[in-house]
Amino acid sequence: MKSSEHVVIQDYRIQPEDREKALGQRGQVLWFTGLSGSGKSTLANEVETALHRQGKHTFLLDGDNLRHGLNGDLGFSEAARTENIRRVAEVANLMANAGLIVLTAFVSPFEADRKKARDIIGVPRFIEIFVDCPLAVCESRDVKGLYAKARQGLIPDFTGISSPFEAPTHPTLHVHTYQMDLAACRNLILDHLA
Ligand code: ADX
Repeated sequence: MKSSEHVVIQDYRIQPEDREKALGQRGQVLWFTGLSGSGKSTLANEVETALHRQGKHTFLLDGDNLRHGLNGDLGFSEAARTENIRRVAEVANLMANAGLIVLTAFVSPFEADRKKARDIIGVPRFIEIFVDCPLAVCESRDVKGLYAKARQGLIPDFTGISSPFEAPTHPTLHVHTYQMDLAACRNLILDHLA
């Protein structure tokens, strides 16, 4: 039983469409998914910067940062990741209702969790972006030194090493960060939005 069973939803007088009109843009969620080190955060920052320069109203939610705040109580078990993604989807949905273009950068390795996020946010405004980079490349970059620690058994349930990454089968956009440079990846996404 959901704990909200006896809670009645209240009507809002100002609707998402009213806020979108006030901001002169459509609320959207750009959902970046990919292995740690695949380039999600870098690319999301690059896209956000371009949108910001165009005068768009944006907000970036990054896994590494949210795990120090809102999601600071969650680890990396399957159940914890499911809850992590559920919270992010709910927050992103609220922000999109406020009329913002939201960019989320989370590994989000499980297909079922990404599907739930899509259901929460709604299909027309949920844009799934698969940031695709082979594990061997992510591991060789190892910017944060986490892959080395995971190989030594110091980090349990590490995505790609001891926990699976279920690659999206039908992403809205598929960017190969190991073949295309950052500007090309950014432009592919900007072109889609335009
Ligand atoms: S998710 O799987 O629940 O979506 P999230 O994107 O929030 O993960 O956090 C991933 C980041 O946490 C990685 O970029 C990495 O820096 C760090 N991290 C720490 N432990 C792990 C782990 N076991 N698996 C994956 N990433 C981890």
